[in-house]
Amino acid sequence: MRWEPQRYLRFERERTQPARDLAARLALTSPRTLIDLGCGPGNSTAVLAERFAGAELVGVDVAQEMLQRARAAHPELRFEQGDARSLEPKAPPDLIFSNACLQWLPDHAALFGRLFGLLSPGGVLAVQLPFHLQSPLHRAMDALAREGPWAPRMGAALEALTVHGPEFYYEALAPAAAGVELWVTSYLHVLEGHRAIFDWIASSGLRPFHAALGQGSDRHDFDRALLAAIERDYPLRSDGRVLFAFPRLFIVAHAP
Ligand SMILES: C[S@@+](CC[C@H](N)C(=O)[O-])C[C@H]1O[C@@H](n2cnc3c(N)ncnc32)[C@H](O)[C@@H]1O
Repeated sequence: MRWEPQRYLRFERERTQPARDLAARLALTSPRTLIDLGCGPGNSTAVLAERFAGAELVGVDVAQEMLQRARAAHPELRFEQGDARSLEPKAPPDLIFSNACLQWLPDHAALFGRLFGLLSPGGVLAVQLPFHLQSPLHRAMDALAREGPWAPRMGAALEALTVHGPEFYYEALAPAAAGVELWVTSYLHVLEGHRAIFDWIASSGLRPFHAALGQGSDRHDFDRALLAAIERDYPLRSDGRVLFAFPRLFIVAHAP
């Protein structure tokens, strides 16, 4: 399931804002080694380069198409191919930062525990996850997937994202941590109408559903029904725009 960096970046400002907010909250003084895990097209890596100028920073991603875009857009930064599940930094990093990536991976107790265990003494794991699985948009996608003629093919798509509540991450990290901070921010993105909400999700969370639907009439029918649900659930404002509410969960864990 390939990414399309250009489509993903249509909403670059909105998608990067949580990375900016997370980086701004970090009280780290002069971290030496930083990893941007799931760096995508390099937008979050650029935020870290600005926030922690002078540190040794590497953006890591599993997708070559994202890395290509990252290297083209930010030739001054370093990017490497790697998998979050088997990350093995040469030296323990002072910061592992991950904006909107780890929801694509399962088994978060083991994953978060492993990443936290890689940190240097006093190091920080800083993660942002979309916390929107109960949003009208995701509920519509899930309901459509379960109800349509395509339902028998939708198992993997329905399981593609993993995001737990804040309590889960507290329990996973607090026993080994010097401190854990958690918060939820709901962004209200002002988008140019219903089609923009569709395009937003088509370049991220809808990808596993599209992969299962293929290119034929099922996909056409699914997309048409999803757009109708978006029109129903996200009323137009007086200027024709929509407010797209997008809650995000932030997790910051400090190593002793
Ligand atoms: C939604 S993008 C986030 C990009 C960027 N960090 C941002 O702030 O917009 C998610 C990224 O996670 C990457 N990703 C997914 N699974 C991964 C894994 N196992 N290891 C590393 N990166 C992964 C994808 O390739 C994709 O580039």
